Amino acid sequence: MKKYLIGNWKSHKNLAEARSWAAAFAQQTSSIPDQVEVVVAPPFSLLPTVADGLADSQAKLAVQDLSPFDAGSYTGAVSIRNLDGLSVEYAIVGHSERRRYFKETNQDVARKIDQALSADITPIVCVDEDYVTSQAAAINEDYLADCLVAYEPVGAIGTGNNVDVGKVKEVKKQINQNFGEVPVLYGGSVNPENVAEYTLVCDGVLVGGASLKPDQFSVVGQNSV
Ligand code: PGA
Repeated sequence: MKKYLIGNWKSHKNLAEARSWAAAFAQQTSSIPDQVEVVVAPPFSLLPTVADGLADSQAKLAVQDLSPFDAGSYTGAVSIRNLDGLSVEYAIVGHSERRRYFKETNQDVARKIDQALSADITPIVCVDEDYVTSQAAAINEDYLADCLVAYEPVGAIGTGNNVDVGKVKEVKKQINQNFGEVPVLYGGSVNPENVAEYTLVCDGVLVGGASLKPDQFSVVGQNSV
């Protein structure tokens, strides 16, 4: 069964660091089993560098966010038009850090999903258990089945307090009740030691801290099946 491994760099790394990460990781992707869909989400400014570095590998590219608007007068926003030609296949939307620090709402996230799908980019919708239902309700019903959904308990992100797999099973069920039979990922302090527990009960993982070092990220990939 296919498993997803999504690496989210957040706002870490400069150009030189991105270049050396991609060069090192490109050498290691062949050690990750083929049924793992490897996806890297660098900051916007580093996308072309990472795309170049990973061109000959099986790794795919994601953005960490997306403008909810078409191309136009929206200073600072990155629209799907701006991504054209960069081979971006996935977009993380509604990460809890976007909701918390940038005040994003379920409706904003729904508009980003519309944008992503109009460009054939697969949205990775992040939810915590208390807004699975309200987030699903805000999304165009026809689009729910085209999403990947990541269960991201806020208290588990960047803390080392990864949640119990039983909890992941429970929330996965809740997600599937609301979104349909979409792939469900878990994110929150995933590392090479604990990844296998999660991929037994869900369809993959979203990895923050452990994606920043190429060696560690590839071991997470190796251990995920
Ligand atoms: P973490 O981040 O792996 O550093 O906990 C996960 C996330 O924010 O998706």
